[in-house]
Amino acid sequence: MTIHVGPIAVDAAHAGAEPVVRVSGLTRAFGGPNILDGLDLDIAPGSFVALLGRSGSGKSTLLRTLAGLDQAPAGTVAVPRERAVVFQEPRLVPWKRVWRNVALGLRGPDIRERALVALTEVGLSHRTEAWPLTLSGGEAQRTALARALVREPKLLLLDEPFASLDALTRLRMQGLVASLWRAHAPAVLLVTHDVDEALLLADRAVILDRGRIAADIPIRLARPRRHGDPAFIALRARLLAELGVDENEIGGAESEAVPSPLRAAGPSRAAEAAPGHPARSRAAPLHVGVH
Ligand SMILES: Nc1ncnc2c1ncn2[C@@H]1O[C@H](COP(=O)(O)OP(=O)(O)O)[C@@H](O)[C@H]1O
Ligand SMILES: [Mg+2]
Repeated sequence: MTIHVGPIAVDAAHAGAEPVVRVSGLTRAFGGPNILDGLDLDIAPGSFVALLGRSGSGKSTLLRTLAGLDQAPAGTVAVPRERAVVFQEPRLVPWKRVWRNVALGLRGPDIRERALVALTEVGLSHRTEAWPLTLSGGEAQRTALARALVREPKLLLLDEPFASLDALTRLRMQGLVASLWRAHAPAVLLVTHDVDEALLLADRAVILDRGRIAADIPIRLARPRRHGDPAFIALRARLLAELGVDENEIGGAESEAVPSPLRAAGPSRAAEAAPGHPARSRAAPLHVGVH
């Protein structure tokens, strides 16, 4: 794989667009069929992209590739040097105090101060000296967000960061991410299985299916967003249809947009069920050269 880290050279055809992420022909298998299969994706600076798709469709694999944690795929990937990831679990080092977890890997005389600024931004100025095991789930995820933020990322990668939080904490965290995004304007790629979360936060939803971006849907809703807004409801129906979910099956207003039986379904079920979205046959990888 060619992985280019740093500013992207923009060719004439893309002048003006200047994406912060450019993925082309990304292909990855784990000894079986291709999980990512010639995937193309550009992300504009400062944009908020939600990545949806059934469980096992390769969302985390894509995210890990963009984070530089998976070097094995074939294809071309260009990402900014300044990038940070938050996973579903906070992944804190238990024997380091909260502020030291945030400062992990930083260098310089002011790392404590920088960590404290980031912790204050996520509402944790009172927990800087705490041990990770004494934190609530929400506080631990805030610490993980502070650790990402302190790196001033141009690309923030979020892999279902709220999935294991209770509903109220989850709402608070969504609000926090929205305000951090407004304040710092990184490009964000948020993996979520929750259509409402995508609609609350993102300005673009991409759906991963059969190793490629099967749908790319702009979310042009005024902010702050409201569930009851007719445009929100219409977009939710569209996203659910793209995911192959019948809204009536799940009672319409449920926030868990993809019910668990479907999330656990086989590889082709979502595509088969999607109206106007016939299951396509798995094509041979477009680009398998490892550079
Ligand atoms: N390191 C790995 N080794 C073997 N198989 C893997 C590995 N990582 C992911 N997979 C497989 O690739 C598929 C996609 O996984 P993943 O990217 O985690 O999906 P998602 O995040 O969309 O649920 C799954 O079938 C998973 O089992
Ligand atoms: Mg995943």
